[in-house]
Amino acid sequence: MSETRILVVDDEHLIRWTLQKNLEKAGYGVLLAETGEEALQKIREEAPDLALLDINLPGMDGFEVLEKALQIDQSIIPIMITAFEDVDCVVKAMKFGAFDYIAKPFDFNKVQLSINKALETHRLKREVRRLRQERKGRSGFHNIIGASPEMRKILEMTEKVANTDAATVLIQGESGTGKEMIAQAVHDLSKRGNMPFITLNCPGVPEHLLENELCGHEKGAYTDAYGLKKGLLEVADGGALFLDEIGDMGQGMQAKILRLIEQKTFRRVGGVKDIHVDVRIITATNKDLRKLIAEGRFREDLFYRINIIALRIPALRERREDILPLVKHFVDKYNEDFHKTIRKMSKEVEHFFMAYDWPGNVRELKNVIERAMILGEGDTLLLEHLPMEIVGENQERIMTGLRLPPEGISMDKLEEALVREALKMTGGNQTKAARLLGISRDSLRYRMQKFGIETTAA
Ligand SMILES: Nc1ncnc2c1ncn2[C@@H]1O[C@H](COP(=O)(O)OP(=O)(O)OP(=O)(O)O)[C@@H](O)[C@H]1O
Ligand SMILES: [Mg+2]
Repeated sequence: MSETRILVVDDEHLIRWTLQKNLEKAGYGVLLAETGEEALQKIREEAPDLALLDINLPGMDGFEVLEKALQIDQSIIPIMITAFEDVDCVVKAMKFGAFDYIAKPFDFNKVQLSINKALETHRLKREVRRLRQERKGRSGFHNIIGASPEMRKILEMTEKVANTDAATVLIQGESGTGKEMIAQAVHDLSKRGNMPFITLNCPGVPEHLLENELCGHEKGAYTDAYGLKKGLLEVADGGALFLDEIGDMGQGMQAKILRLIEQKTFRRVGGVKDIHVDVRIITATNKDLRKLIAEGRFREDLFYRINIIALRIPALRERREDILPLVKHFVDKYNEDFHKTIRKMSKEVEHFFMAYDWPGNVRELKNVIERAMILGEGDTLLLEHLPMEIVGENQERIMTGLRLPPEGISMDKLEEALVREALKMTGGNQTKAARLLGISRDSLRYRMQKFGIETTAA
């Protein structure tokens, strides 16, 4: 760690001298200033970590210096030195942003104590900030891969939505598309990002327990309610409540949820006091809610209440540009988790990844890679490490890029088409075309004759 540097600002020579000597002995770097102007210049040019600032300075007084110093460098820690314990002065200094004050005459132990406390507080603050940022990095945009235009648009909207403070958000998409991840990002990137993000998996809670789960209960509300329990709404106060799989929720529960999110006021079970909370509601579903409404299985009023802002995440097969970046992302992750050194994948694996339809979307891709990397040795992902059940049924199509039409096709026609295609791709170069088809030049010639393909034009 670099040396902590302290600026001493006092017009009295003796004080500057004593402080300098003691501070240097305690291991700090010391800068000195006699006047406010000089102090500000030193702050601008040398960015000290902490300033011991006399209030009574000739010219610009200590308060003005304090204010300007903080404008120049928000992270500087000011500790004021007062000639005597003047309460008004001290209050004013603290209001202006001083960390502490020391009254003259002082002994150096007191100064040392105050400096230690200040540095420790600032270290903790910095640490909290770093952890918060790290958390944002982990769950915010850092780890969301979005290379396709469709996904980039979703990320752009996520950021906008995050900034519309409390608006309710509905995230739709097939299973495994990343709904929960986007929900978390909406929260993390919002002003509430440091407050709780609480998830309720709607189909996981039996209807008769829902109210208890969301609103909590008072002591003695039931025979077995021994203590007071806060509900999720209270726990999420100031933050967000994520109602996952909201499409899979019974009618009774839908009515309760609607009332709760409309009023944001409730009573604990067995309680008499109204509790009001400030909670952002984020919901997600893999169901088509409009269809459920048409079938009478989802309340229309609840739909309009949660559908204030809607994000629809496309299926992975509708944004194939994301596939390889996601593969790389997961390979990196599992290399680290499993201490592997997989750096490449075979052409077949790449073809498979790109051609497969991924009905389970990103989650399926992630699981396939996790499995392949557990099984795989060496530095290359191979087809044999992918699950047979998905590779097997798709292999032919994937390897050739062809799909047999339902009405069938004659082998001769197919062969002719392939020969023509190969010649076209190589601009009529027979050696190259033969190589593309994995046959000799003579066999290519033979086939060209058979199908009556001219040697010059393809
Ligand atoms: N764009 C992405 N970048 C990185 N990881 C992703 C991305 N999309 C999804 N994932 C990962 O895929 C997995 C599934 O994502 P998530 O749980 O958010 O999906 P979901 O839509 O909520 O799925 P389900 O409907 O099954 O609950 C998670 O491990 C998530 O981290
Ligand atoms: Mg989910």
